[in-house]
Amino acid sequence: MKETNVKPANGKLGVLVVGLGAVTSTFMTGVLMARKGLAKPVGSMTQYDKIRVGKGADKKYLKYNEIAPIADLNDIVFGAWDVYPANAYESAINAEVLKEKDINPVKDELEAIKPMKAAFDHNYAKRLDGDNVKDVKDRWDMTEQIREDIRNFKKETGVDRVVVLWAASTEVYVPVDEKIHGTLEALEAAMKADDKEHIAPSMCYAYAALSEGCPFIMGAPNTTVDIPAMWELSEKTGMPIAGKDFKTGQTLVKSGFAPIIGTRCLGLSGWFSTNILGNRDGLVLDEPANFRTKEVSKLSTLESILVPEEQPDLYTDYYHKVRINYYPPRNDNKEGWDNIDIFGWMGYPMQIKINFLCRDSILAAPLCLDLVLLSDLAARAGRHGIQRFLSFFLKSPMHDYTKGEVPVNHLFQQYVMLKNAIREMGGYEADEEID
Ligand SMILES: NC(=O)c1ccc[n+]([C@@H]2O[C@H](COP(=O)([O-])OP(=O)(O)OC[C@H]3O[C@@H](n4cnc5c(N)ncnc54)[C@H](O)[C@@H]3O)[C@@H](O)[C@H]2O)c1
Repeated sequence: MKETNVKPANGKLGVLVVGLGAVTSTFMTGVLMARKGLAKPVGSMTQYDKIRVGKGADKKYLKYNEIAPIADLNDIVFGAWDVYPANAYESAINAEVLKEKDINPVKDELEAIKPMKAAFDHNYAKRLDGDNVKDVKDRWDMTEQIREDIRNFKKETGVDRVVVLWAASTEVYVPVDEKIHGTLEALEAAMKADDKEHIAPSMCYAYAALSEGCPFIMGAPNTTVDIPAMWELSEKTGMPIAGKDFKTGQTLVKSGFAPIIGTRCLGLSGWFSTNILGNRDGLVLDEPANFRTKEVSKLSTLESILVPEEQPDLYTDYYHKVRINYYPPRNDNKEGWDNIDIFGWMGYPMQIKINFLCRDSILAAPLCLDLVLLSDLAARAGRHGIQRFLSFFLKSPMHDYTKGEVPVNHLFQQYVMLKNAIREMGGYEADEEID
């Protein structure tokens, strides 16, 4: 590895997850199993991908941890918050994502991960009724209590650094309100005034994490850190933020497939995506206010790949619809259908159908690992604010909309951004060669 200014990954890395449900219990089980050599972390870029560095005769392909100092899986220490008291073992069993034979070898370690009381407001997820919830005076007190949890976790485990990852249920949609979310001062005032309408519990977690010097990742489509006030806080505390919404199944396909249409200059008249899903995530998203948050996130993908203003003949007025249907028999095994109406030479219509039988948490777990490890790396590299290079992993990548920045949703452009950031943190030059 080259000499750089990036601090080494010395000591233990605490990973505090908000929400100990299907995704996070699958993530934790996989990491612990991989550590014992009993499973492979398939799908994880940080564990498998190789990036070319150098050109011509100097060209070589290296894994991420050969380029930049990425924390080792053996150094991860998990902790969690949840509305329900089930420990990580019980949660993994309840989720029915993994078979017992793939959980039991790490049963003891999983059982030791007991969720701290959640910072929760029933109005933000009406379908949840757990009672492992903090008793709080107001939103400011909620934030203070989370900060204390983080400090205690550090003390009890002796970890050197902590990353906080939200993989809890999707909250109801909180539209950005410039007056409240526009500046850090206004946000803090709203927390102190206990403004429950504009301050979601997730904002309290994010505020607490950044204030305690921890990077924060938003894995759900919540507004949370996608507001100028949080960008200000992340600059102030020098911490990276990443979000929103893990790009796992249908949107991954969309951001990889739409470029085929765009690159070949074919037209699009409509794209209808629907899926059935039966896990607790599906249950929460069955509530229209919670689905709205997801819908906004899922709809944003195509707009920046197939842009009407750039190609009016091809992309004006295409109809884009996304549905999620709660259907218990399938549990975590989501089935997605995409019907794509395209047109070609002289406007003649054609159709493409994609039927993806996926597993939601199996696709999300490696993203949790990569986002955590790369956010920790970014923090040690002195990067703060929105980490656009992590857009690759996210459905609705954050960008500074107040400055007219546009998100990058095109999977292969996102991959270039990811590779270049790793190259730069490893002391190599960024470039745009395709290989
Ligand atoms: N699996 C995927 O492919 C995927 C993709 C994108 C986003 N996501 C998002 O990831 C999140 C987790 O998905 P999941 O399938 O694990 O859901 P899940 O319902 O199994 O787990 C979420 C957990 O969060 C807990 N929770 C809710 N509010 C909380 C709070 N304020 N504090 C602490 N805990 C809280 C719930 O009690 C629950 O145990 C969801 O928001 C989902 O939309 C998942």
